[in-house]
Amino acid sequence: MTSMSKKEATKRAAELREELAYHNHRYYVLDDPVISDADYDELKNALIAIEDAYPDLVTPDSPTQRVGGAPRDELGTVHHETAMLSLDSVLEEEAFHRLYNNCLKELDRDTVTLVAEPKYDGLSVELVYNKGTLTTASTRGDGQTGEDITPNVKTIHEVPLRLRKTNGSVPDHLVVRGEVYMNKNEFEAFNKQQEGKGAKTFANPRNAAAGSLRQLDPKVTAQRPLHIFCWQIGPTSSAMPNTQWECLECLKKMGMKIDDLPAKLEHAEEAVEWYQKLQKERDDLPYEIDGCVFKVNDLVAHETLGTRTASPRWAIAWKFPPRRKTTRIKTIEAYVGRTGALTPVATLEPVHIGGVEVTHVSLHNQDEIDRKDIRVGDHVLVERAGDVIPHVVKSIPDKRSGDEKKYVLPDTCPSCGGPVVRPKGEAIARCTNVSCPAQIKQRIMHFGSKGALDIDGLGEKLVAQLVDTEKVTELTDVLELTKDDLTELERMADTSADNLLHAIREAKGKVTLARLVYGLGIPHVGKAGARQLAAAFGSLDNLLDATVNDFLALDDMGTIMAEAIHAWCTNDRNRKVVKELQRQGINPTAEKRGDRLAGTTIVVTGTLESMTRDEAREAIQAQGGNPTGNVSGNTDYLVVGANPGSTKQQDADKHGVNTIDEKEFLKLLGR
Ligand code: IVH
Repeated sequence: MTSMSKKEATKRAAELREELAYHNHRYYVLDDPVISDADYDELKNALIAIEDAYPDLVTPDSPTQRVGGAPRDELGTVHHETAMLSLDSVLEEEAFHRLYNNCLKELDRDTVTLVAEPKYDGLSVELVYNKGTLTTASTRGDGQTGEDITPNVKTIHEVPLRLRKTNGSVPDHLVVRGEVYMNKNEFEAFNKQQEGKGAKTFANPRNAAAGSLRQLDPKVTAQRPLHIFCWQIGPTSSAMPNTQWECLECLKKMGMKIDDLPAKLEHAEEAVEWYQKLQKERDDLPYEIDGCVFKVNDLVAHETLGTRTASPRWAIAWKFPPRRKTTRIKTIEAYVGRTGALTPVATLEPVHIGGVEVTHVSLHNQDEIDRKDIRVGDHVLVERAGDVIPHVVKSIPDKRSGDEKKYVLPDTCPSCGGPVVRPKGEAIARCTNVSCPAQIKQRIMHFGSKGALDIDGLGEKLVAQLVDTEKVTELTDVLELTKDDLTELERMADTSADNLLHAIREAKGKVTLARLVYGLGIPHVGKAGARQLAAAFGSLDNLLDATVNDFLALDDMGTIMAEAIHAWCTNDRNRKVVKELQRQGINPTAEKRGDRLAGTTIVVTGTLESMTRDEAREAIQAQGGNPTGNVSGNTDYLVVGANPGSTKQQDADKHGVNTIDEKEFLKLLGR
């Protein structure tokens, strides 16, 4: 590279930067790359070589400068040119209408066009572009002054370091505002990774995004999966568009990342519908939102409406009902699971969170209780995020009266009185008595559960009676129950007994190897793992005789897991259960695999008529296909059932994925 003259190098570097910026935009903003990663790296390496040879040619907007700069001692401050306002928010439809009607009155109009946007649950940031180059990025701070996070924001690939030209030029000065966030799945993975390293974990994606942005060392920020959605044009030297909608379009043209969800609405009724629709889709979105923002579209009307002290009159946040509430812990009790694990569960003073009444919450283990200092009688903050099981975020020590009691898990099993052991270095305490009735009950429940033998009517109360009367002490006993056994039980009517016996017969006849393996309750083996074992070994006998190495040969199988499964398979008691199952005539072999869907990736969304989601997965795998949960460029088909989520459909459109209905899906399966 040094063979280039300075003049040539200057020209070539500028070309390379432009090319790299183009591909960066295609990849990160449009999610539609047109060159391979290797080709991109080649371009980038060429630029690095030039910049190495001529360091004074490095520009702040060079793609090589995304992760630059040494760690700082503290974050500096940035004064916002105009205040970064907050939003007034409402929770109820009535309050929304009131504000909307006030707007109409002020503007002396019958209707007003609104732009509806999600209210992203991230961290608001301001980006300043001078002569098209990103020069400053800051947090909102107190609205007037924020923290300087420029080097950190530069590591976010969705943030252009240079604006793209529109009509041949870039604005001399432009302020853009938006929200930096972390996707929910990336947050989970990031937290796991932190946990593995013994590093700090975060309570939610928002805190993780905020913590990542406020790092002193941008190299740390660069490792974090951060994204941005821009939602506003701030002060600019250019002519402003006339509407918020055009602002979003204009930002998009300049290469900023804009969400696909915003919509232009003509009536308050449409806003209500939009709110309700978004609330339904909320859990399916890859990122957290906590409501909708409705903005008057016409920017001249913004002037007329003006602002309150800290919030504009032309915008309103209509929030979703909170998913966090405080309540009190009435008692804490230890429950024994099927592997003997003792789980402390708190009984709460019931609270409604996001439309569901929460009465119990797992506290997971002793370490968790100690770490969060959760006591019986404490006020606690409980969160129910999406489809996630409710959990205690924290205790509120300020509200203590002094009567609260610390909780320690018992050292004898609350069910059988057997010894409870917590091996060194492990978080879980276990009852070590394999004949513990609580463990047997849980094992039986699992055996009969939907993903396993799917025995209709084998509920918790019935199982408790069967185990307490010692009619059932092993999984296999369930399959030999007689009508007399059942009618002897309290409150068991003749027809219920017949129905259960029928359900057991049916389950015996239709259980697949994968479901049976899942139902056995082998440690670490969930539904997907059971399908994998069934496909790999083909029969119960092969599974029992497999070696640790056989297990290790499977995808995603680590030593701890392989050894635990092997230990289960070689345990005499477990082998006896399996042999007994076989004697009872339950000895399924792996379904003959077809290859109709070999190499085909399929996502199912919504409810199918002819099968459950799990059955659809099994059916796809049985034909050599690959069922996945998210639509990407690798997806071949999206199967759309009743009441599908709109995100998957949108993703499918974006990636040009074939959408098919249930009928076409069944055809693909050869049914
Ligand atoms: S516009 C003057 N749009 O909500 C208007 N804000 O409570 C300023 N937010 O600090 C905000 N999504 O962090 C706007 N689509 C959106 C938003 C949004 C999230 C946040 C933003 C702001 C806070 C205001």
